[in-house]
Amino acid sequence: MKTDARPDTIVIALGGNAFQTKGDKGTAEEYWRNAYTAADLIVRLVEEKYGVVVTHGNGPQVGIIAEWMSLGLKNKNIPPMPLDVAGAMSQGWLGYMLQQALYNKLAEKKLLGSLVKGVVTVITQTLVDRNDPAFKDPTKYIGPWYEKDEAEKLSKELGWVFKPDPRGGYRRVVASPDPIGQVEIDAIKTLVEQGFIVIADGGGGIPVYRGDDGLLHGVEAVIDKDLGAERMASALEADVLLILTDVEKAYLNYGTPNAKPLDVLRVSEALKYYREGHFKPGSMGPKILAGVRFVQNGGKMAVIAHLKQAYDALKGNAGTRIIPD
Ligand SMILES: Nc1ncnc2c1ncn2[C@@H]1O[C@H](COP(=O)(O)OP(=O)(O)OP(=O)(O)O)[C@@H](O)[C@H]1O
Ligand SMILES: [Mg+2]
Repeated sequence: MKTDARPDTIVIALGGNAFQTKGDKGTAEEYWRNAYTAADLIVRLVEEKYGVVVTHGNGPQVGIIAEWMSLGLKNKNIPPMPLDVAGAMSQGWLGYMLQQALYNKLAEKKLLGSLVKGVVTVITQTLVDRNDPAFKDPTKYIGPWYEKDEAEKLSKELGWVFKPDPRGGYRRVVASPDPIGQVEIDAIKTLVEQGFIVIADGGGGIPVYRGDDGLLHGVEAVIDKDLGAERMASALEADVLLILTDVEKAYLNYGTPNAKPLDVLRVSEALKYYREGHFKPGSMGPKILAGVRFVQNGGKMAVIAHLKQAYDALKGNAGTRIIPD
């Protein structure tokens, strides 16, 4: 247990398995059950007197929102909301569930008001560069599959970009630009310092850019949640970035008979393996990159671990740790 005046801060990035596990249909009951399981794990870290900021992915949920909107458009001519608004919806959806689950777990343990002042979700906008090269070549598939003629119609009407999906049909693609930083970072920081558990930057944040007018504008893109989490952890000068997912460790030669689990990686080793292509883009790749960036920016340690091993990972007894050279 820590005794210094300023508690250590950890930023926890929850993977998709925190809300929807294998075999789930995606019912509200399943979401609540999973939210309570995650809340249990997080409260265990709070009990160790860490200041906690939680972020989460939103890929499946934005996909579901896109499906709902596509049905609404088709059947009732309800205009769809743009992707940045869908991102905000997903932050509210998952933020609410986790916020209530955390509140109730803390209340049960009589930790509310004593150890923790409260739990709050911050709808978070994350700045991206309008000239990010990612906008020239959108690669992230989102939402439902369409027939070619439907895709062409939507492309004309809404300006969406479609690509043939390797699994058949056509799907909308959007860019995944590199996050620069969270617009609400000062609010997040103040809340943590005041003893609140903060849920923020869900789905990597709602991508926005600052126009020539100096004002914010939403952009139809997605941000990788691990890279977003790094921006937040570095800006908060957090001590640890804890990336929780559905594998126990990062591996070399993943998925081959020579797979080798990694316990500790110095930044330079992590970068070397990253460049050699050991970590897949879009899944383990951004986690390693987020860990490397966090440590390069002054963080003590980034850990990638299975959700169920959150506590042991924080203590250095599970997962893959990325540490300074
Ligand atoms: N070198 C590697 N070592 C370990 N896992 C790897 C590696 N390369 C790719 N992976 C894959 O990365 C996956 C974890 O990343 P993924 O993006 O799927 O999960 P997440 O970010 O936790 O959740 P989500 O993206 O659904 O929100 C693992 O399930 C594994 O299949
Ligand atoms: Mg992921």
